[in-house]
Amino acid sequence: MKNSTTIGFIGAGNMAYAIITGLINNGISTEKIKISDTNESILSLRKSEFNLEVFMDNVELATRCDVIILAVKPQVLSLVCRQLKDALNTNTLIISIAAGVRTHDIDRWLGGNKAIVRTMPNTPALLNQGVTGLFANEFVSETQKSLATDILKSVGTSLWVEEETMLDAVTALSGSGPAYFFLMIESMAKAGVALGLDEKIAQQLSVQTALGAGMMANISKDSVRELRANVTSPNGTTQAAIESFQDQGFETMVSHAMRAAYDRAAELAIELGDSD
Ligand SMILES: NC(=O)c1ccc[n+]([C@@H]2O[C@H](COP(=O)([O-])OP(=O)(O)OC[C@H]3O[C@@H](n4cnc5c(N)ncnc54)[C@H](OP(=O)(O)O)[C@@H]3O)[C@@H](O)[C@H]2O)c1
Repeated sequence: MKNSTTIGFIGAGNMAYAIITGLINNGISTEKIKISDTNESILSLRKSEFNLEVFMDNVELATRCDVIILAVKPQVLSLVCRQLKDALNTNTLIISIAAGVRTHDIDRWLGGNKAIVRTMPNTPALLNQGVTGLFANEFVSETQKSLATDILKSVGTSLWVEEETMLDAVTALSGSGPAYFFLMIESMAKAGVALGLDEKIAQQLSVQTALGAGMMANISKDSVRELRANVTSPNGTTQAAIESFQDQGFETMVSHAMRAAYDRAAELAIELGDSD
């Protein structure tokens, strides 16, 4: 990323906080980051945390930035984009982190022919452990793509998809995915309590097991299937549990759940795009 690039955030909430923290930790000067929000108290909080230039007026921010990150809730995105319509330079890159809103709707609200990258981050971004799916519309240059990669990489891993509908699949997998693992952790802890463990101990065992398994899956040269085979001795305890999962259709259950998330993402995109 060029040192001269100025990045503006519209919406100073949780995700803006996470990305700004990541950028600063990656050596981006606070002079090159600006932020606007309609909520005065969050703006003064961010100002005191990061010592950034802050604005109550989104348009004023937009005229001063090369990249604008739309970090408001999806329901207010249409309003924000319409405000920006006449304030953007021809080379401004727009990055939307708003869940579900499609690039052609954002482009229409912004007046057309704008370089837009739509992204789907996930909550571990708050701990710099996120994974983000990115899609670029036809107006985004290679240089702008690498700029978007650099920005989102500051909160974890970033991966590009070629088709925008694949962002609905990303939503179903990694966007909603942290909640699936939380459900698994919760269920395992509850089952541990049912087997007689103290609640706190069961919770710790469950969380630490998820963390350890995730770290092993991340660093091991073996596939997750091989890792699973390695800990499943014939006729042992793990095999008994895995067979019980499989007998009850675990894989089908996961597949149906993700299909439901995918379908809902597509429905939401239509609802949010029609909110004119
Ligand atoms: N949090 C996540 O895990 C996550 C993951 C993936 C994607 N996202 C997406 O990231 C976006 C931001 O999420 P978040 O959790 O950071 O939301 P958030 O904490 O609610 O932050 C949004 C901020 O935007 C402000 N705002 C509202 N209307 C505005 C306007 N017209 N102009 C400027 N600012 C305005 C809000 O102020 P008020 O509070 O006063 O309304 C709030 O401070 C969402 O679109 C969400 O879909 C979030």
